[in-house]
Amino acid sequence: MIQPIYLDYNGTTPHDPEVIAAMRPFLEVEFGNPSSSHWYGIKPRQAVEAARRQVAGLLGCRPAELFFTSGGTESNNHAIKGLARALKHKGRHIVTSAFEHPAVLEVCRYLAGEGFETTYVPVDGQGMLDPLAIASAVRSDTILITIMHANNEVGTVQPIAAIAAMARARGIVMHTDAAQSLGKIPADVRDLGVDMLSVAGHKLYAPKGIGALYVRQGVQIEKFCHGAGQEKGARAGTENVLEIVGLGKACEIAARDLAANMTHMQAMRDRLHQGIAGRLPEVRLNGHPDLRLPNTLSLAFRGMEANRLLEEIGLEVAASAGAACHADSVTLSHVLEAMQVPMEWAKGTLRFSTGRLTSSADIDRAIEVVVGAVQRL
Ligand SMILES: Cc1ncc(COP(=O)(O)O)c(C=O)c1O
Repeated sequence: MIQPIYLDYNGTTPHDPEVIAAMRPFLEVEFGNPSSSHWYGIKPRQAVEAARRQVAGLLGCRPAELFFTSGGTESNNHAIKGLARALKHKGRHIVTSAFEHPAVLEVCRYLAGEGFETTYVPVDGQGMLDPLAIASAVRSDTILITIMHANNEVGTVQPIAAIAAMARARGIVMHTDAAQSLGKIPADVRDLGVDMLSVAGHKLYAPKGIGALYVRQGVQIEKFCHGAGQEKGARAGTENVLEIVGLGKACEIAARDLAANMTHMQAMRDRLHQGIAGRLPEVRLNGHPDLRLPNTLSLAFRGMEANRLLEEIGLEVAASAGAACHADSVTLSHVLEAMQVPMEWAKGTLRFSTGRLTSSADIDRAIEVVVGAVQRL
């Protein structure tokens, strides 16, 4: 069977062959526990610390400011709950946007049960936040601002440095969810000015189930897991050495090849956009036209139903939907809702996301398939 063309790199990415090669010894030979003081622990321990340096290299932080997690969701949970609980004596107010991933929104909702209040700042029609709107949402009891670096559905990149500068001036901790931006655009914590940043390995050609959290030295957060003292006590549990090694390698590659990857992903994305928009009259782009991830293309097909379109193209192209249409109702993604995309456009929204392996031939075929499907439907 011929595999569909993969245009869902924001969903997840395949493992980079260099990542697989780096992990192989830890799958086949090096089974030791990094906490063991005997011979078997030496290589795994060294590998975990080497990986920490590789991730730190991509983020521009100190290795000691990073700990490994099970992925973006855990990193966000730990950052938000950990900070809120550590600073609850100072205040119980959090500022975020209506536009975040559920791994942030659901955490804020959950914390309401512990007496925390969250303000959800609206985005504009292109999914952009105004730093002034964030500043006006801040109160004397605000302890945390958490805003995603780039949106997973439409790709809009937020003015994190401006928001973080405002947060710092007011003594508020700033967290960003960089699950989607790492490896696609620069995300150096010194340039962003953030205090905490979440990493998700599987968006970056590393395996699923591994991530990291950057916590700037001096910022105190509560422990996530209680147990033995791994990860300096912040996250107990025997380290996932195999995947930590994979994440480290993936970050090294992301830093090394960033410029070339950005150029390639953007060329493929724009070719797809032009190919589709040039042949269909009723197509529009969701998200910011310029301040957007170089690989992300959220297209609204007016009057169409996204799940019907996905079914129609599914044997040849793998993409994802921005809305789910049922017999008598339509559920829009909260991102399109927050952007107030009109229903007749939003319900026919597909997200295409390109990656390192996307070729011009893939894009040309995908254009034929998508245009054909829209015309038939
Ligand atoms: C912006 C964003 N944050 C967090 C996550 C969750 O990451 P993980 O799948 O590693 O838990 C995702 C994954 O879709 C994401 O896109």
